[in-house]
Amino acid sequence: MARITVHPSFKIGEISNRLFSAFLEPIGTMVNGFMYNPKHPTADEQGFRKDVIDSLKSAKLPAVRLPGGNFVSAWQWKDSIGPKEQRKVHLDPAWYQFIPNDVGHDEYLQWAQKIGTESLYTINMGTGNMQDAMDLVEYTNFEGGTYWSDLRKKNGHEQPYGVKLWYLGNEMDGHWQLGSWEGNPKGYGYTCQETSKALKWIDASIETGVCGSSASFMDHFPEWDEEVLDQCYDTVDYLSVHHYHTAKPDDVKALLGGSLYYEDFINTEAALIDFVAAKHRSPKKVMISFDEYGCMMRDFSPLHPGWGRYNMARTHFRFDPARSYILHDPDNMKHFMFPGREILHMLGFLSIQLAFLRHADRVKIGCMTGGLGALCASDHDHVWKTASHYAYMQMLEFARGTSLQTVVQSDTFDLPGYAIDDTSQYTGKEGVNYIDSASAWDEENGRLAVFVINRNENESYALNVDVSGFAGCIPECPDRRAGRNAAGFTAVTHQEITCPEDEPDAVSSYEHQELYAPRENTTGKLDKGVYTCSVKPLSWNVLVFSK
Ligand code: AHR
Repeated sequence: MARITVHPSFKIGEISNRLFSAFLEPIGTMVNGFMYNPKHPTADEQGFRKDVIDSLKSAKLPAVRLPGGNFVSAWQWKDSIGPKEQRKVHLDPAWYQFIPNDVGHDEYLQWAQKIGTESLYTINMGTGNMQDAMDLVEYTNFEGGTYWSDLRKKNGHEQPYGVKLWYLGNEMDGHWQLGSWEGNPKGYGYTCQETSKALKWIDASIETGVCGSSASFMDHFPEWDEEVLDQCYDTVDYLSVHHYHTAKPDDVKALLGGSLYYEDFINTEAALIDFVAAKHRSPKKVMISFDEYGCMMRDFSPLHPGWGRYNMARTHFRFDPARSYILHDPDNMKHFMFPGREILHMLGFLSIQLAFLRHADRVKIGCMTGGLGALCASDHDHVWKTASHYAYMQMLEFARGTSLQTVVQSDTFDLPGYAIDDTSQYTGKEGVNYIDSASAWDEENGRLAVFVINRNENESYALNVDVSGFAGCIPECPDRRAGRNAAGFTAVTHQEITCPEDEPDAVSSYEHQELYAPRENTTGKLDKGVYTCSVKPLSWNVLVFSK
């Protein structure tokens, strides 16, 4: 038996519209293949795949962080604009690839416009300088009458793009980053202070984000973040952090317990922000932008000498003569998935999203790496819907309004500490609830969504969801004194996603898109504000209460 209690008085914070956004970077065939393929039968006049555009447009994705990623730290945006035949082909040493710049600065922003989403833009703070950043904002956002803004018009975009949020670099604390500031947080923070100031003097309506640690595993975490923020607290709006949770393919507890490490990370960053704000005597609250996150299942890799990206032993500095630069051909694209069951990929990212919801007062942006693929799985020819698609769509629809404290009492498990490689090293956790939950109260529409994951692989749970505290606080709620409708909510829908019966390893495809479509769970009953139901092993449940 498990119990969840939600009460409207216990508010965490407003859920930002950008909380469930995605991240895009030209790695592999993400751009050349998924986004852009002039030979695709659905290609539009710019060579963008219309099947992908249509699918993402209908998802109503709020925002996408682009154009990278590590790639951006040596990307020269000025060489990516104007007539295609005049654009310059460059190397991307971060990912060992050619950057043909067929998709350049304008195309990234225009693609985002086509899918109806906001662009969250990352500036090159590796090899790029402050003047490049200023020219970039002038080109992108300034009305006209200057060299750069008129060049934008000449390049076919009369109206300013109005990009609101600018990230001051990507993972600048990482030794793998081109132009890394790992050894000089003060220098990076100061450069951000000056750059942010200059950009806001060009466009006063913009916001900026400064890099914090690329993972809580970093040796210098959290001091690096504090030192950076101390230099630029007054001019920036977001602290940008990243984390990729990793677990062995068959270790469900480690995978789904991963959200606890996200919460630790968030709590530390929030405390650090408050500390720096206090030092600055600032009434302002810098918010957290979790603009790259994900979880993956992979096998242990050797601790030394590994090739892991976050290798603390510095084996990352690899100069491999056998490695050669690749030009990704959009016409040679395959569907890519990390190992592991489809249901686990879905539950993995959802558990992180629930952690973000539980910290909705501090985390205002979340960009899922692989989020575009989660919404719209694809191969060379087609797009289709997977388990992740359906669940992500539910989050976009129902995680709105105010996040409320969601108190869980359930069976628990202990998670022993483990390491996947040099950097993915986790201390153990005790007393992790099998039931994971968060909620969203859309007061305006009198609708409460309670999200529930059953992390248990084997057991179903009888679950009581107590929402009796909502009595009387729903607009147009009938008079309580008359004894009518005292519990407030009168209706509940319960949708679940779980493995197809007898087919726990089933994989969605273009031909089989309905395998993981949400189904109605009919086990439940709402009585006097308490909903009683049963939740299946490894299931995702969305309960929507209404008047
Ligand atoms: O998502 C892949 C990479 O992970 C990004 O380029 C980088 O920012 C992070 O290290």
